[in-house]
Amino acid sequence: MSSSRVLDVAGLGVSVGPLTLLTDVTFGVGRGERVGLIGESGSGKSLTGLSVLGLLPEDLHARGSIRLAGVDHDIVGANERAMSRVRGRDVAMVFQEPMTALNPTMRVGEQVAETIVLHRRCGRGEARQAAVALLDAVGLPSPADTARAFPHQLSGGQRQRVVLAIALANDPELLVCDEPTTALDVTVQALVLDLIVRGVSARDAALLFITHDLAVVATVCERVLVMYGGRIVEAGPVEEVFRRPRHRYTQGLLEASDLEELAAPGRLRTIPGSVPAAGRFPDGCVFRTRCAHATTVCREAPPWTGETPERGYACHHPAGVKV
Ligand SMILES: Nc1ncnc2c1ncn2[C@@H]1O[C@H](COP(=O)(O)OP(=O)(O)OP(=O)(O)O)[C@@H](O)[C@H]1O
Ligand SMILES: [Mg+2]
Repeated sequence: MSSSRVLDVAGLGVSVGPLTLLTDVTFGVGRGERVGLIGESGSGKSLTGLSVLGLLPEDLHARGSIRLAGVDHDIVGANERAMSRVRGRDVAMVFQEPMTALNPTMRVGEQVAETIVLHRRCGRGEARQAAVALLDAVGLPSPADTARAFPHQLSGGQRQRVVLAIALANDPELLVCDEPTTALDVTVQALVLDLIVRGVSARDAALLFITHDLAVVATVCERVLVMYGGRIVEAGPVEEVFRRPRHRYTQGLLEASDLEELAAPGRLRTIPGSVPAAGRFPDGCVFRTRCAHATTVCREAPPWTGETPERGYACHHPAGVKV
């Protein structure tokens, strides 16, 4: 992989029994870059994030390759022992529900300290001090007292800050966030988003940010990947993709989003139909059964149009392109 990349995903496929859940997912994340991963529910966003951490459920089978900077083996096929060294050190993840990531019976300061001790050569005392400093850095009030609290004694927003402190504890090269603020109210959401951006920027870490909220992507990310039916259907700089979407699915997502509503109130539309269940997507273009522009050619899988996986789309009838 090139030295400017921290993550290289190539031809990632995930299946369960005969069902295909992800197909040929290919993308990279540059050092210090913030990349959004968007798409409706069931598009394959979380499966992609989990794959990067080597956290897919055991009955799911992955193919292809996932390389992380500083890790000399492929994440695909790596055993749990190898991954436990990588997770929390080279790459860390923040999930939607902080309670699932925290141990309910352990004081939060101890949980942060434990991550530090696991990956660094330092004593308990030193790790405890570092933990308090991290809790302070994520804006928790009286961090020394908070360190002694149990997760249930904190609010949802405070818990998510603790999870972020744990994720950033060992200065990972890459942070993966999966809907990290969806469960929080709007004001707390803005604070936590700001902390995530500041946390990764301060470490020059890269961010892979999963969300269904396009407005959040627009504020947090520089580049965006649009996912549908377990595939990346469009990719590019956020400004370009949001201003001039090419794939008809991206166009539909934007028209159905609050971004469009802000620009033209009352014009909120939805994408017709709903996301099929896994394995029920049509062959050829996965979006064709919901697309107003689909023709017979869409029964063939559209090729990737674009010189790199970083900017392009896979659509036979792209918006704004004369063919
Ligand atoms: N363990 C599993 N076994 C079988 N199917 C699964 C499993 N995990 C996910 N899927 C299926 O894979 C597809 C993609 O799931 P994924 O969780 O990645 O979607 P998502 O884009 O994260 O959606 P959401 O926005 O709702 O979180 C869905 O159809 C889902 O039902
Ligand atoms: Mg998800």
